[in-house]
Formats: sequence, C-alpha cells, structure tokens
Amino acid sequence: MSTNTTDNTRKVTTRRLVEMKQRGEKISMLTAYDYSSAKIIDAAGIDVILVGDSASNVMAGNITTLPITLDQMIYHAKSVMKGTSRALVVVDLPFGTYQGNSKEALASAIRIMKESHAEAVKMEGGSEIRESIERILSAGIPVMGHLGLTPQSINKFGTYSVRARQEEEAAKLIEDAKMLDEIGCFGVVIEKVPAELAARVAKEITIPVIGIGAGGGVDGQVLVMHDMLGINQGFSPRFLRRYADVAGVMTDAVQRYIDDVKSGDFPSPAESY
Ligand code: KIV
Repeated sequence: MSTNTTDNTRKVTTRRLVEMKQRGEKISMLTAYDYSSAKIIDAAGIDVILVGDSASNVMAGNITTLPITLDQMIYHAKSVMKGTSRALVVVDLPFGTYQGNSKEALASAIRIMKESHAEAVKMEGGSEIRESIERILSAGIPVMGHLGLTPQSINKFGTYSVRARQEEEAAKLIEDAKMLDEIGCFGVVIEKVPAELAARVAKEITIPVIGIGAGGGVDGQVLVMHDMLGINQGFSPRFLRRYADVAGVMTDAVQRYIDDVKSGDFPSPAESY
C-alpha cells in the first residue's frame, strides 16, 4: 500500500518540478523504454519518466550506452509517450548527437520533440557542452543536465566508480551545476558522487537535483527500472535498492508454463474453442 500523498492526477510539468523543490516535496523518477511499462509506472504515480540511453544496456544488451542511436531513442520515446498521461517524459540525447556541434545538437533535440512528442531532453556534461545546451534552450526545448558520473564518457573515465571525491572535480561539478541553473535548465541529474557534495549542490541551486547514488540530501531520486524491479540481476551497486524480484517471478511462471505444455495440462478444455 503506497503512502504517497502526491496529486496523482495533475500533469507534471517542468515548472511543477521546480515548485516541488520549493515546497520540499521529493521528486520520483524512473526509466522506461516501452509502452506497457510506461503505462504501469505512470498509473502508479511516478513524477518523471526518463527514456534513458540505459536502453542501450538493458534493452539492447550493449556493455555501454554509446552504441544507441537517435532513431532508436526516438522509437523508445514514442512508445513511452503512448503509455504516459501524467508524468513528465524526458529523453536522453544519445552519445554523438550533441557534443561539439551545437547546430547538430539542436537538430537532434528537435527530432526527439517533433517525432516522439516528449517534453524535454537530458544531456550529459557541463561547461564543455554549454553552447549546445543554450542553443536547444533558445528553441524552447526544456533541458535537464546530467553531472557526476556521465556514462557516455566511460572511455575517458575508464571506470564507473564514484566521481568528484577530489576537490578539483567537486569544484567543477558545483560550477557546472550553477551554470546549468543560470542558463535555464529545469533540473539536473547528479550520478554517483559523495552525498555531502550532492546535498550542497541541491542547496546552492534553484532547480531540482535528482540523484542516483548521490545520497538523500537532494530533491529527488532516479533509478533504472530494470535494476530496481530485479529484471536486470547482474548489477548491484551500493546505491541500488531492489523493490522486486521480477526475474524470479518470470522464471517461475515460464517454468510452470513449460511444464504445463510438456505434460499436456495446457490448454484445458475450458481454454479451448
Ligand atoms: O540513461 C539513464 O538511465 C540515466 C539514468 C541512470 C539517470 O541517465
């Protein structure tokens, strides 16, 4: 039984997320990549659905998020939009579609908005991609930032370990978060950094900070749905809380189905025409 007191009927907008931060109401966010899952989590009352480029890992089976294409992200975003009525839907701009060329970045964001009807985009990085973010914002497209561990840069980091433990990297993260706030982003995901640093950022900027592996002192939390439901069993970082064992439920159901087919128990006369 949920103890959630959020208004589960009112449409979530970027503006409403900022109001939630101002009221001290925590923001819930989960990934989804398909119609059926989006429909379930939207009806359950999730505030924000992220069509994350983690689809590259959990849907396509790639080791990193780098291979997923803009066309594939748009396909997932279109499916999610069909299943969503209340949550705000944010779509990741995939690797290679916005870094280094702000005109290409705008063209990529426009394709997502026009073809999927999603409501915002998310982009990894700070000062390095400022021009791209500003160009997208100038077209009226809401942008969410993503700082700390940015999986699209895995080949630069070489590891998925905690970021910004050192003073220099922490200072850059704070500066980047302030910049994202000043230029007009509506929120920022901060991934896998010390809780104290993330809480400080959340206090010092006006837009919501959504954490993943960033402690409880931020304005909301995001997890990859396949991880928190226990569909993806091979990923167990400290920050992940598993709320179900869906892989276990599926395995049991499929094994019982196989047994019933093999034994001739399924279908029964009542399940036949
Ligand atoms: O792609 C994704 O799922 C993400 C979350 C981990 C924040 O960016």
